[in-house]
Amino acid sequence: MIASVDVKAAAIAADFPILAKPTSRGKRLVYLDSAASSQKPQAVIDSLVDYYSSYNANIHRGVYEIAARATDAFEEARVKVARFVNAAHSAEIIWTRNTTEAINLVSFSWGLQNLKPGDAILTTQVEHHSNIVPWQLLAAKTGAELRYIKAADDGTLQLDDLDELLRGTKLVALSHVSNVLGSIAPLAQIIPRAHAAGALVLVDAAQSVPHMPVDVQALDVDFMAVSGHKMCAPTGIGFLYGKRALLEAMPPFLTGGDMIRTVAYDTTTFAELPWKFEAGTSNIADAIAYGVACDYLTNVGLDWIRQHEIQITAYALERLAPFAARGLQCYGPARAEDRGGVISFNFADIHAHDLASILDLEGVCIRAGHHCAMPLMDKMNWPATARASFYLYTTEADIDVLVAALEKAAEVFKIS
Ligand code: ALA
Repeated sequence: MIASVDVKAAAIAADFPILAKPTSRGKRLVYLDSAASSQKPQAVIDSLVDYYSSYNANIHRGVYEIAARATDAFEEARVKVARFVNAAHSAEIIWTRNTTEAINLVSFSWGLQNLKPGDAILTTQVEHHSNIVPWQLLAAKTGAELRYIKAADDGTLQLDDLDELLRGTKLVALSHVSNVLGSIAPLAQIIPRAHAAGALVLVDAAQSVPHMPVDVQALDVDFMAVSGHKMCAPTGIGFLYGKRALLEAMPPFLTGGDMIRTVAYDTTTFAELPWKFEAGTSNIADAIAYGVACDYLTNVGLDWIRQHEIQITAYALERLAPFAARGLQCYGPARAEDRGGVISFNFADIHAHDLASILDLEGVCIRAGHHCAMPLMDKMNWPATARASFYLYTTEADIDVLVAALEKAAEVFKIS
C-alpha cells in the first residue's frame, strides 16, 4: 500500500472512539465487520447527544423554537443525503429504517399496483435476502414470475441471456456490490438494457453507497435503497431514492399521522413528496446524525475511500495468499479493483463460526455464517463462510493482526 494512504486511514481511525478501546481481553479492537455495520465517528455520536440534550422535539408540528430547529435539521439532513447520491431533488429521498424497508416500500407500493400475471421481476443469484424475499412474496400475491440472472462462482453476473430474461420483466432488482463475494454489478450495462426492454431498475446499494461515489442521475437508476448504519450513521435510519414521477404515482405504503394533507371521517388526502411515505413520527435524531455522517464521508472523499478499500483489499488478498497451501480459500473476483472491500473465505475444514470465535479471542471481529444470502450459499455449496470487511478506518496493521490470528487458528486446529 502507498504509505500515505495507510497513514491517513490510521488518522481517520482516531475519529472513531470505539477503535481506541481495548477488548475485555486487553487486545486492540480490530474491527473487520463493516459490511454488517460500520463504526461511528465522534461527530455522529456528538450529533445524537446534541439533539437529545439541546433541541429534542417532534417535527412538522410544533411552532416553538426547538421544534422548528428539529424540523430544519431533519430536512437539512435529507438535503445532505440527496446531495450525497446526486438526487435531482430532496423530495426524491424517503426516510426508511434501512435498505430492507426501502425495498419493501417499493414492493408494496409500486409492485402491488403495477404487476400482474404474465409480468416478471428479475433479480440475481447473489442477492441478500432483503432483495429476494420481498419479490417472492410480491410474485405470489400478483401472479408475476420471479427470475434470476445467473452468477459465476466469483459473483460475476452472466449477461448472455439478459435480453431473454428481460422479456416481460417490469422490474429489475439487483445489488450493486455483493455482501458475500464483493463482486460489483455492471449497472452501466444493465440499466440501459432494462430500460430499453421497458423495465424499471431498483438497486440495493447497501454495500456500495458507503464505499464509492454513486450518482443516481448518472446511473439513471429508478429506485435505490440504502442503510445509514453501514456508512457511519446510526442504526434504524436508511432511505429510498426514487425518481420523482414514479414516487408521485405510487400510493402510500404505511399510513397514519404526518403523511396526510386532510382527513375526514370518510376520506383522506395525502401529503406531497416525500412526506406521503413517512407515516408517524420519524426517526429524527438518527436522520440528523445521518446528515452528519454524509458530511464526514464527503470530507474524507468518496474517491479516496474507494481507492483506500481497493488497496487494503489487495493487501489482504496478498497476505492471505500464502495460506492457500494450508487450505484457505478466498471467494469473489481475483482482482481487488473488481470488488468491494469484502473478503469471504474458508480455512481448511475449520467451521467459519469456530474460526470467528478464535479470531475474537485475538480482538478481531469478522462475520461468519450465511450472510443473509442462503440461496447463494446453497448454490456454492458452502455451509458458511468467514467474512472480513473493510472501511475507511481499516489499516494494514489491522490486516496483519488478522493474519496473526489465522496463524493461531491454524495452531489450534493443527493445520500445517
Ligand atoms: N447485510 C449485512 C451483512 O451483510 C447485515 O452483514
